[in-house]
Amino acid sequence: MLKGKHILLGITGSIAAYKAAVLCRLLKTAGAEVQVVMTPLAKQFITPLTMATLSKNPILVEFFDPENGAWNSHVALGEWADCFLIAPATANTLAKMAHGIADNLLLTTYLSSRAPVVVAPAMDLDMFAHATTQRNLAELRRTGVHIIEPADGELASGLAGKGRMAEPAQIAAFVDALLDEKKKSLQGKRFIVTAGATIEAIDPVRYISNHSSGKMGYAIAGELAARGAEVLLVSGRTALPAPAGVTRYDVLSAEEMYQAVVKAFDTADGAVMCAAVADYTPEHYTDHKLKKDDGGLVIRLQRTKDIAAELGRRKAGRILVGFALETDNEEAHAQEKLRRKQFDFVVLNSLRDAGAGFRGDTNKVTFIDAAGSEALPLLTKGEVAQRIADKIERLIQK
Ligand code: PMT
Repeated sequence: MLKGKHILLGITGSIAAYKAAVLCRLLKTAGAEVQVVMTPLAKQFITPLTMATLSKNPILVEFFDPENGAWNSHVALGEWADCFLIAPATANTLAKMAHGIADNLLLTTYLSSRAPVVVAPAMDLDMFAHATTQRNLAELRRTGVHIIEPADGELASGLAGKGRMAEPAQIAAFVDALLDEKKKSLQGKRFIVTAGATIEAIDPVRYISNHSSGKMGYAIAGELAARGAEVLLVSGRTALPAPAGVTRYDVLSAEEMYQAVVKAFDTADGAVMCAAVADYTPEHYTDHKLKKDDGGLVIRLQRTKDIAAELGRRKAGRILVGFALETDNEEAHAQEKLRRKQFDFVVLNSLRDAGAGFRGDTNKVTFIDAAGSEALPLLTKGEVAQRIADKIERLIQK
């Protein structure tokens, strides 16, 4: 599957950099074209000459060549890549990736690449276990970066534990499977994913909204894109960056989300409705700040349009996945939404379950469809997204 694929191999300053030579060789033997980009510190661990010889390409380290001023374009590199594989990835580089710091060519390329990104962390066991590193890895995972867990074993420090970079053969097999999976599953399909909270303005200062962070919807968008789908992510307000390979369209109100989604549905193969959309909006928007007085305040609300129900009416054989966020009578409410909005299946999450619903990195969901229900255990939102994508694939194959 790697034949003819463009693999951008990033190497950072870790003792495990010597394994990058073997990795490069494996990728080349499998027929991939390999371009190596190194951080300045990585040169202390493995020479550019070794990597240039193995990859059969000059090594890129600096933004420009100091001899002749020739520019190494991070944008062109990112566009060239079918996969950006960073192995080994140090705690320092992972932290910078998680926070958008771009102080070398490898990092600027990461920020400009739309290709799937795979990292193979390598570090001492305590650095790996440190809460900061774990937080950075969770952040990268959430934005769609694939992480190949380090192995447990002997470390360069003389200690033993988890932090040893995965073996080159395992890394090459992961990239092979990733690119193969991309090709065969959702290639050529167009999906809309809604995510995040809508905002219904009362006046220029106040609004009605909810607690959705966008994490669940962003994980779904990233997963569908990683499987080759063209994804339009129609997003309410969140603090999240768009996952790799996803086109994001920002909206604020339920009405704006309705307009964007209904328009895009004409040319889509399906939609996953994960956004927490306001059911009510103020009847009147006041264009100046409402002044308080001693009495109470009544704001009259009116119903918003039900976006999912509208897609249900226009469905015509396309795939429609809905969510149900409940606090009581969960399955009955989800069943009702399944029928009324013509969903193929509903992803039910209940605020009564620990670790489920808004904001956290986990969710506990039950799939409800015409055939019955399937309760999943507590999973990360990334894993829930994978299960949803698997179910969508099965629907497409029917
Ligand atoms: O974003 P996170 O912090 O990760 O949290 C994830 C989540 C809890 C928001 C998510 O898992 C979830 O449950 N999303 C749906 C929330 C919701 O609005 O559920 P609902 O039961 O009110 O709506 C049912 C379905 O109709 C949903 O697919 C919803 O997107 C859709 N809907 C609702 C109202 C409306 N006006 N238009 C719609 O399309």
